[in-house]
Amino acid sequence: MSAPASAAPTQDELKTLVGRAALEYVVRGEIVGVGTGSTVNKFIDALAAIKDEIKGAVSSSVASTERLRALGIEVFDSNAVDELAVYIDGADEIDGRGHMIKGGGAALTREKIVAAQSRRFVCIADASKRVEVLGAFPLPVEIIPMAARRLMRQFAALGGVAQVRENDGLPLVTDNGQHILDVTGLKIADPLAFESGVNQWPGVVTVGVFAHQKAQVCLLATPEGVKTLHYD
Ligand code: A5P
Repeated sequence: MSAPASAAPTQDELKTLVGRAALEYVVRGEIVGVGTGSTVNKFIDALAAIKDEIKGAVSSSVASTERLRALGIEVFDSNAVDELAVYIDGADEIDGRGHMIKGGGAALTREKIVAAQSRRFVCIADASKRVEVLGAFPLPVEIIPMAARRLMRQFAALGGVAQVRENDGLPLVTDNGQHILDVTGLKIADPLAFESGVNQWPGVVTVGVFAHQKAQVCLLATPEGVKTLHYD
């Protein structure tokens, strides 16, 4: 009788796997940039095991800061650090060039700030996040609330449908005190031009396309193991 086939790993198990794999990219003796989300939470939990080998972290959200501190990892203000060797974060989508959509957890602005001060962006994701063209996931855009109606019309002119993200029936308020639009119906064929263009619209704080701050490495968790993709 043949042995029973082992069950495919769950998405949670894949996130744990890739969170642990990211430890290899943490530069010992330095401060590490830490993103936000359920995959990064697995990374933070794994980071606790080597907390005595790093100086601490710069965090991209209140939620990640609280998790890091609860595990005894010192969190530095981003202004206290000139440059970080590496930033580790998840993504909602990643294409074949390392361009991403991010912001499903509403932390996109701080994520882009910490990514911009880091020499290397290591994306950790499960295989469901890999796409050919960005746009299947609703695009998050952090906005100044008074600009919402006009920005919704501007996205409609591009063929998108924008909605204010809500939490318990009220507009969700970000760590920066602003709102989020989620835009469906877009196909983002030129992420660099799209990011530059939308970021110029008055009232946009940050668009959730990460093309100028793209990933240099993606650790992609698959049922067969972690695949390492390079985009340099
Ligand atoms: C947070 O704002 C996001 O950019 C996350 O990095 C992204 O949504 C991925 O989150 P998960 O790891 O929870 O899928």
